[in-house]
Amino acid sequence: MQADDRLIVALDVPNALEGLRLVEKLGDEVSFYKIGLGMLTSGGLALANELTEIGKRVFLDMKLFDIGQTVENAVAGLAQFDLDFLTVHGDPHVVRAAIAGRGDTNMKILAVTILTSLDRNDLDMSMIRDGEIQDIVLERARLALLAGADGVISSPQEAAMIRALPEAAGKLIVTPGVRPTGTNAHDQKRVASPAVAINNGADHIVIGRPIYQAQDPLSAVRLIKAELAAI
Ligand code: C5P
Repeated sequence: MQADDRLIVALDVPNALEGLRLVEKLGDEVSFYKIGLGMLTSGGLALANELTEIGKRVFLDMKLFDIGQTVENAVAGLAQFDLDFLTVHGDPHVVRAAIAGRGDTNMKILAVTILTSLDRNDLDMSMIRDGEIQDIVLERARLALLAGADGVISSPQEAAMIRALPEAAGKLIVTPGVRPTGTNAHDQKRVASPAVAINNGADHIVIGRPIYQAQDPLSAVRLIKAELAAI
């Protein structure tokens, strides 16, 4: 079956070698991979390079945050790799710096709003203003998009709300927290199926454990692709 690049497989395995093994196992069925911070400290950039050389698309999930000049320099360095997506925190000064850093490359800058692992108490401890998390997520998404972000990372539940923003017209929404029907939610609290995420306005879904921890990762991918094809 041909790859469906709405599916991004998270390569959250211990090292680049195991990452490559999984990529080989999934072969032509998967065209898009996410490399996160864990992998970055164990050969992730070299892995990203190998993946782009064999024609795969790569999403580097670095969630950058720093003063503007440092973000710009870091992103300019990463822009030399042939990456598709890069995440930064959605603070407008960070987004603007990332856009400046990527120059005229095609690397899309995606903004993280509020990490889904945080609750209201965590936000209080970080001195983030009062209010419902959902409202803060929506406002941060809006400000990041206005600052020039090419898209946002969001939970499947928030996707519909963000998609409805005028600022989100033509922008990308990428959702983790997706579970194929009938599989384990792991530590993800608010999961949705691939079909719900896409119907809520997501352009891409990110799925990790249900694939790389499966007895048969290739069959797991085929089931997800069948679910996507039926939308
Ligand atoms: O294994 P699982 O499918 O839960 O992996 C989801 C991926 O998406 C992980 O790489 C995780 O770090 C990432 N992620 C997430 N929730 C967010 C942002 C990123 O689960 N809000």
